[in-house]
Amino acid sequence: MKTAIIYFSKTGASAECARELYKAIPGADLFNLAIDKCDVSKFDNIILGGGIRAGMIPSLLKKFVRENELEIQKKNVGIFVCCSDFPHSSDYIDKNFPPVIVKKAIVCAGFGAKMNPDEMKGFDRFVAKIAMKKIKKAGGEAPSINYAKIAEFAAKFR
Ligand SMILES: Cc1cc2nc3c(=O)[nH]c(=O)nc-3n(C[C@H](O)[C@H](O)[C@H](O)COP(=O)(O)O)c2cc1C
Repeated sequence: MKTAIIYFSKTGASAECARELYKAIPGADLFNLAIDKCDVSKFDNIILGGGIRAGMIPSLLKKFVRENELEIQKKNVGIFVCCSDFPHSSDYIDKNFPPVIVKKAIVCAGFGAKMNPDEMKGFDRFVAKIAMKKIKKAGGEAPSINYAKIAEFAAKFR
């Protein structure tokens, strides 16, 4: 079975998750939508992922899904998002991906997030600083990536 892991990552979290999946799924191919093209028809398994901003998946990922929707429907599908509001991961997936693809997916998951203002620039850094201040004030911890969830997800494609 051939697996394509297709992602877009603005600040690195989804890229890190995609690389973890790549390491865990034998023979998988990795496609960063910022630089790569992927011919969906050549794969049996399609994994789609990206980071949430203002409730939305990255526009390049949205465009890719829209343009390949019919072909993706023929595959085993997995969807992941990175977001700091972890409990809302599945709402973000339902809101951003076509219902037919969400229904077709054998696994959908939130992999957590990274929110380190020092690794960000401009507006992202500004938003991350405010968010982190709020989290600290409430006694919470910085969002992190859930590697156990990634391993569980990857197991469905082995
Ligand atoms: C400008 C900005 C907006 C964000 N909006 C949301 C949001 O609406 N919901 C959420 O759960 N997380 C939000 N986050 C957190 C990101 O989803 C998180 O940092 C994630 O790790 C980003 O993934 P990426 O690095 O692959 O782009 C936001 C972060 C930034 C910087």
